[in-house]
Amino acid sequence: MSAVAHIPLAVPDLRGNEAAYLARCVADNWVSSAGPFVSDMERRVAEITGTAHAVATVNGTAGLHLALLAAGVGPGDRVLLPDWTFAASANAVFHAGAEPYFADITDDSWTLDTAAVRQILQQPKHRIRAVIAVHALGHPAEMTPLAAICRDAGVALIEDAAGALGACYQGRPVGGFGDFAVFSFNGNKTVTAGGGGMIVTDDGAAAEHMRRLSAQARETSAYRHDEVAFNYRMTNLNAAVGLAQLERLDDMLAAKRSLATAYDQALAGRSDLKPMPRRDWALSSNWLYAVLCPSADAADSLVADLAAQAIDSSIFWLSLSAQTPYADCPRQLTGVSRAISGRVVVLPSSSSLSSEDQARVIAALGEWRGSAAEK
Ligand SMILES: Cc1ncc(COP(=O)(O)O)c(C=O)c1O
Repeated sequence: MSAVAHIPLAVPDLRGNEAAYLARCVADNWVSSAGPFVSDMERRVAEITGTAHAVATVNGTAGLHLALLAAGVGPGDRVLLPDWTFAASANAVFHAGAEPYFADITDDSWTLDTAAVRQILQQPKHRIRAVIAVHALGHPAEMTPLAAICRDAGVALIEDAAGALGACYQGRPVGGFGDFAVFSFNGNKTVTAGGGGMIVTDDGAAAEHMRRLSAQARETSAYRHDEVAFNYRMTNLNAAVGLAQLERLDDMLAAKRSLATAYDQALAGRSDLKPMPRRDWALSSNWLYAVLCPSADAADSLVADLAAQAIDSSIFWLSLSAQTPYADCPRQLTGVSRAISGRVVVLPSSSSLSSEDQARVIAALGEWRGSAAEK
C-alpha cells in the first residue's frame, strides 16, 4: 500500500519569478541590504496598501519595534494590544522599553474589542501611548472606530498586519488606517520573502527616520552615526523573493479565498466545529483558516486525528496574559481571549493546496466526531 502524501499547514508557493530574481542578485553581486529589489519591493507594498511610504525590514517583529519607536513609545509608556495575538506583537513593545497592556477581543471578530479600547483610553491613569490593532489570521480589526478613538485620545495607532497583506476594511486595503502598519513576509505567510517585514506610513519624516534606524543611523560618512540604531534592513536576496511573490499576490489571495469558502461550506450546519468569525466590514486575506473547537481537549484530539492521516494542523495563539513572560503585564479582559485560547485549530491553508488535498482534509473533518471524552 502506498503511503498517503503529507499535507502541510502553510508552505511557501514559489511558482513565479523567485529563482530568476535570486539568480539576478547573484549575477549582479547585490546580495546584501543595498540593491534594487529592496526599494522595488518597498514601492510595490506602498502601492498595494495605498500608503505614501514603505520601509523594508528583516522581519515583522523588527518592523513593529521601529514603528513603536517612531510613534514615540519608550520607557514608562504602555501599549494597548489584544491578549490574543502572536507573541511578537507584545515582544516588540518590550523591545521599545515599554509595557504591554492587554485588552480583549470580541468573539465575533477575534480582533480588538473597540468598546473596551475606548473605555481604557478614556482613563489617563493607564498611561497608554499607542495601540496595536492586530488583523488576526488576516481578518481586519474594526479600523474606522479604532482610529477615531485613538485620535481623540491622542495616542498612536499601529496596525499589526503581519498576515493581512491584501485584506480590506470596508473596501480599503489594510495598512492605511493607522499611523503605521507592519507586514510580515515570514515563511508561513501568503507572501513570503524567506523572512522580512515592511512598515507603511503616510508620514515621510517618520519613514526616513525608521529607514535610517534600520541601517545603524549612518550619517553621510560611512562610519559616522548620530543615534543608537539597529541592523534591521531587509537584504536584496529576501526582497528578490518577496517581489516575485507580490507579482502573484492576486492569484494567491484568490486561491486562499476559495479554500476558505470550501471550508466554510464543509462546516456549515456543524455544531461542534465553528468556522472562524467574519464581520461584514472585512475582506480577509484568509492567511490561515481556523475552526473553533468545543474544548481544548477537542482541539488536541482534532490535531492528533488529522496528524494520524498525515494532515498538519495546529492549535493557534494562546492568551498571552496567561503566559509566564507576560504574567505581570497590566490587563483588562472580558474573558473572550481566555475562552477561545487552546480551542482554535488552524487547518491546511497553503495557496498551493490542491482541491484534491483540501477534499482529503474536509473528509477527515467530516469523519471527526469529537475528543474521546466527548464521544
Ligand atoms: C500577528 C503577528 N505579529 C507579528 C509577527 C511577527 O512577524 P515576523 O515573524 O516576520 O517577525 C507575526 C508573525 O507570524 C504575527 O503573526
